[in-house]
Amino acid sequence: MITVRVPAKVNVQLGVGGLRADGFHDLANVFFAVGLADEVTATPGDGVTLTCTGPDAVSVPLDGSNLAARAARLLAEHHGLADPGVHLHIAKAIPVAGGMAGGSADGAAALVACDALWGLDTPFEVLLELAAELGSDVPFALLGGVALGRGRGEILEALPVSGTFHWVFAVADGGLSTPAVFRECDRLREEDGTGSSLADVPTPDPDPALLAALATGDPVALAAALANDLQAAAVSLRPSLADTLHAGTEAGALAALVSGSGPTCAFLAKDADAARAIAVALTASGTCRTAHATYGPVPGATIGTPTP
Ligand code: C5P
Repeated sequence: MITVRVPAKVNVQLGVGGLRADGFHDLANVFFAVGLADEVTATPGDGVTLTCTGPDAVSVPLDGSNLAARAARLLAEHHGLADPGVHLHIAKAIPVAGGMAGGSADGAAALVACDALWGLDTPFEVLLELAAELGSDVPFALLGGVALGRGRGEILEALPVSGTFHWVFAVADGGLSTPAVFRECDRLREEDGTGSSLADVPTPDPDPALLAALATGDPVALAAALANDLQAAAVSLRPSLADTLHAGTEAGALAALVSGSGPTCAFLAKDADAARAIAVALTASGTCRTAHATYGPVPGATIGTPTP
C-alpha cells in the first residue's frame, strides 16, 4: 500500500495572455503550494478502480475520466504494462472544481503512488512529462513549493522563497468550470473592445515586485503584488464572490483574491493567529460554505503515511 499526500495550489500571479490555436492561453502563472492536501492511496487491484471520501466526495467522478484513473493508465501505457492493476482511494480535502487544482493534484499523486506500487522507478523528468499530458496544472502538483509556469502553465521553473506565508481559503457551494471561466475572460476582453484579436493579447511577464516579495518572505509586499487575470471573469459568473472577498478584507486580510479560476477565494494573512481569526470571521459571515486557515509553501506530491 502506498499513500501520497499532494497539495492544493493558489496562483499568486495568474497573468493570462492570448488565446492559442489549440484553445489554451499562454500564461505567466506563479503557482504556490499550500497545506490543504488530498491523500491518494494505491493498493493492488484488478484493473483501475477508484473510491473517494471527504465532504465533496459525491461531486468527484469515479469513472475513467477522473485524472487519478487517467494518470494510472497513462503511466502503465508508458511502461507497456498490458494489464495494470490498482485500486486508488482519494481522501479529498481540496475543494472540487474550486480553482485549487484538486483534480490535477490527484492525477499527480496517482502517478507517484502507482510508480511506487508497480516498482517502476520512473525518472522525475518523465513523470513531469506524463503530468503535462494529463493537464496544465498537474506538473506543479508534483513539484510543489513556488514555481513559475509558462506555456499553458506546464513549463515550470522553481522560484526562490523565504519563510512561511499564512493563507485562508473560503470554499464556495458548488464549483466553477475552468474552461467556462477562461471563455468569460475572453468575452470580457472582447467586450472591452481593445480592437485587437484575442490571439494578440501579450503574455504578461512575472511581476518583479511579486518575485522579490516571495524571495524575501514579506507578506505585506506579496499582498500588494497578488494578481489574477481570471478574477473579473470568475466574479462575473458568480457575483456573490465579491461579498466573500469583501468579508475577508473586513476581517483583516492583507489581501483577497479569487484562487485560480475560482470559486474558492484566497486571503493572505500577516501571521497564523490572523489567519485563524479571518477563517472564523469568514465562516460566520455566511458568504462561503466553510473557510480553512493554512500555510505554505509546502512540498509537492510526497509518499508518506495516511492521516488517521
Ligand atoms: O489543462 P487543463 O485540462 O487543466 O485545462 C482545462 C481547460 O482550461 C482547458 O481546456 C482550457 O479551456 C482552459 N485553459 C486555458 N489555458 C490554459 C490552461 C487551461 O485556456 N493555460
